[in-house]
Amino acid sequence: MKLKFASILMLAVLGAVFAASRDFLTIHQAGTIVVGTDGAFPPFSFKQSGQLVGFEVDLANAIAKSLDVKTQWRTAPFTELLSDLKQGKFDFVIASHGITPERQKTIDFATPHYCTGGMIVSKSDGPKTILELPGTRIGVQVGTTYLQNALKIPGVLKSDVKGYAKDSDALRDLIAGKIDVWITDKFVALDVIKNNPKADLEHGDLVFTERIAIAVAKGNNTVTGSINSALIGLMNDGTYEKISNRWFGEDIRCEGN
Ligand code: ARG
Repeated sequence: MKLKFASILMLAVLGAVFAASRDFLTIHQAGTIVVGTDGAFPPFSFKQSGQLVGFEVDLANAIAKSLDVKTQWRTAPFTELLSDLKQGKFDFVIASHGITPERQKTIDFATPHYCTGGMIVSKSDGPKTILELPGTRIGVQVGTTYLQNALKIPGVLKSDVKGYAKDSDALRDLIAGKIDVWITDKFVALDVIKNNPKADLEHGDLVFTERIAIAVAKGNNTVTGSINSALIGLMNDGTYEKISNRWFGEDIRCEGN
């Protein structure tokens, strides 16, 4: 009896693991690809009058279009996106994830869709260089490469670094003077500075660079492969450039892509 229960449980667990991600054929037959993002990272993905918009939203919609499927967008907090992906809640995640060896242990990345880095943002009289960071109050979003890299800066103590659930919460505290430095994406930083001329914000050094890619469930090669071929097509036919120019006034693809 006990054995029977154990094997049923085992089958259920195995079933859950294998049912967790849909292959591309299944997605194509269903006609809809489910995309996860946090929708709180302008100008990459954010809500505008209730609508999800941004560079990554446009790009993922273009990828889906060239794969002949519709997108169904689902949002979740940034820290939950990759575990939701592993549970099969999305077919892929596009949320400005940097390619890191830690993440690559549990998920697969598509070809990078842009290259960027973590940048210092502070008030006009605040710290601008990495050398000035020790002893200052640094704010970063949790679960990010900004946090990981902030802790690697020589002389920066764990107690100097404050983690925020949302990137915009760190910005709010920087404006309020509760932290001295915010480390965020380069393009996010430039966008915030441009859109808040009265906030007295300036950017400083790039702290590190990273390649950003779509995340797919580990081993789901038909989905990763489909995304990659769609991306190559969009990068070659001018669609990528058009979308990038719309949001940044420049082409932000990685060199060599
Ligand atoms: N690029 C950073 C990372 O890889 C942060 C991304 C934050 N993205 C977001 N959608 N909130 O961790």
